[in-house]
Amino acid sequence: MASRLHAKCQKVTISNWFRIRRANFSMCPFALPTHRQTTTFRLGSGSVCSLAASFAGRFLGPLVKTRTFGMTPGGGRLRNPRTEVRPFGSPLLPQVLIARYHFEMAKRVLVCPPTYFEVVDHKNPYMSDKAVVDKAKAQQQWQGLCSALESAGCQIETIVPVAGLEDMVFAANPVFVGFHESVGKFIVPSHMVHASRQQEVPRYVEWYRQRGFKIVEIDLGSDYLEGHGDLLWHPDGSCIYAAYGFRSTRGGIEKFSDVMSKMGIAVTRLRLVDPYCYHLDTCLCPLNGEAALIYPGAYDSESLATLRRSWPRLHELTVAEAHKFMGNGIVVNGSYLTPYITPHLEEILRQEGLKPVVLDTSEFEKSGGSLFCMKAFLP
Ligand code: ARG
Repeated sequence: MASRLHAKCQKVTISNWFRIRRANFSMCPFALPTHRQTTTFRLGSGSVCSLAASFAGRFLGPLVKTRTFGMTPGGGRLRNPRTEVRPFGSPLLPQVLIARYHFEMAKRVLVCPPTYFEVVDHKNPYMSDKAVVDKAKAQQQWQGLCSALESAGCQIETIVPVAGLEDMVFAANPVFVGFHESVGKFIVPSHMVHASRQQEVPRYVEWYRQRGFKIVEIDLGSDYLEGHGDLLWHPDGSCIYAAYGFRSTRGGIEKFSDVMSKMGIAVTRLRLVDPYCYHLDTCLCPLNGEAALIYPGAYDSESLATLRRSWPRLHELTVAEAHKFMGNGIVVNGSYLTPYITPHLEEILRQEGLKPVVLDTSEFEKSGGSLFCMKAFLP
């Protein structure tokens, strides 16, 4: 019975570009797909599989031990899955059937057209008063990013740009996006340091609200928190790396960590010390569950030690590579989208089984941003 049900699930889902995979082998679906993964999203309790499994379980026996995976954004597995006893299920029914399932499908990604993109003030060391944005070129480069994401199997979603919000193209910053079993898909609105960027936040929040995301408001007071600029999921969803020093404040990260820990999500705090790496996404780029790119000069010694303990393989970018945003790339379905490439980075990517895809982002670099900041993966 169990294997027939399992086979049926496989048959239902393998069709077309859906592929079923067991929860305990899947990785965080929207944060970091690797070459072993396309995209996953978590099926709710109404899914064919869980329904079939629990239906069968109810009829087959009294109790079965099942594994509960503390789901994180999009259902990544936690390192210490809890084992619990459920009041239904059957010893005859293998755990595989009761485990939650994930589908692999086109990864959804949110971007914002650079219609009003400009360099108007000095928010970070890359921005110069004299920088003039070539609008046509910016549009072309943004289009290049969208095409590359689509070629990598992503489904693009857009938010309408707003006149006067010159940095709205940096979709990674105004909210932090996550998924957790207890709340489903959620966002944490940012408190941006700069006035024009603060106005982006309600626009993005509304976009997510309309699409069913729960809004986890944190009372940040006078503290700052800048979304995925400073908050990065571990690819397996086991924790969030959270940095402060230039944009997000220590207090902001602490408040964020308190709220996340109540939801059962661990947060690893890091302190940034290089003003050219003012956001964490310029100096930490997880490549898969075991390897990450870092620029060591961006961290204080304690944070660096923490990173070294956390990752089996830590690849170090040079200062020149980091300041050229080579750590601000996007890992997507076996590719690493990067604004530049060096033989050194190419070798790292080769070791990690990633194919470099070089995309020009020169216009956005004038504003201190590149590929990673220009999108938000959605659960
Ligand atoms: N001009 C923008 C700012 O300073 C760039 C943001 C780039 N985003 C990033 N995550 N690094 O806020």
